[in-house]
Amino acid sequence: MKKRFYFGSNLKMYKNIKETTSYLKELVDLTGDISREDMTLFIIPSFPTLASASSCIDHSLCLLGAQNMHPAEQGQFTGEVSPLMLQEVGTDLVMIGHSERRHVFGETDPEENAKVLSALSHGFRALLCIGETAEEKAYGISREVLRTQLKIGLHNVNTKDLDRIWIAYEPVWSIGEQGTPASPDYAQEMHRAIRKCLTELFGDRAKDIPCLYGGSVNPQNTDSLIIQPDIDGLFVGRAAWEAQKFNSLIRQAIHTSETFNSGRV
Ligand code: 13P
Repeated sequence: MKKRFYFGSNLKMYKNIKETTSYLKELVDLTGDISREDMTLFIIPSFPTLASASSCIDHSLCLLGAQNMHPAEQGQFTGEVSPLMLQEVGTDLVMIGHSERRHVFGETDPEENAKVLSALSHGFRALLCIGETAEEKAYGISREVLRTQLKIGLHNVNTKDLDRIWIAYEPVWSIGEQGTPASPDYAQEMHRAIRKCLTELFGDRAKDIPCLYGGSVNPQNTDSLIIQPDIDGLFVGRAAWEAQKFNSLIRQAIHTSETFNSGRV
């Protein structure tokens, strides 16, 4: 069976409303000829842009995500955004536990778990981000860290909701301007460990959970990452923030993977 690819970008705290909508329109336009049977495309802009972003694109061509969410529907939680508010503006997926949420804002695995469960019960796809720090890697405990993040983050997820769980493996040391990309071999090893843990948790159905790699993805490492057997897609920051560059990266990845796989059979 042909592999479905996932490509997405987290716009972090960049781009105002005008920049976000023009970026989205251009990206959807440029990628319009790529069959959505073969590819799922998603963009995660800032909260204030979501309503305008949602109305400017066809969601069957590009899913729209939120960068965070409070698990409660309402309450005395100043500065937080609820699932009902995200539903109202037309959000398809919620990113949970991004490295910057965990390490800059101190979010914990039990908090991510509450968000995952709430996102699922409100009909969203939940994109759970996991990844070890440089220190944890140096101690040789990356797999243990990933397993803990998965086992707590996905605690009590009902198997009926599994088709709306996505995982992004983003090693903390690989993200952003100071980051160094993971080597493709290392990324594959961690993705294999993730897949093994998901299978322990959910059995055979775990094979359908998309697992994306993120952290300093760029045109130079795209090819060697996308051909890894346990990497289902790429979650990109800086290299995706211009629509033309992201379009080129997506096409490059699909082309490389298809060429690689046709050479294999
Ligand atoms: P960079 O690709 O800029 O390293 O960011 C990755 C990321 O944080 C995606 O969520």
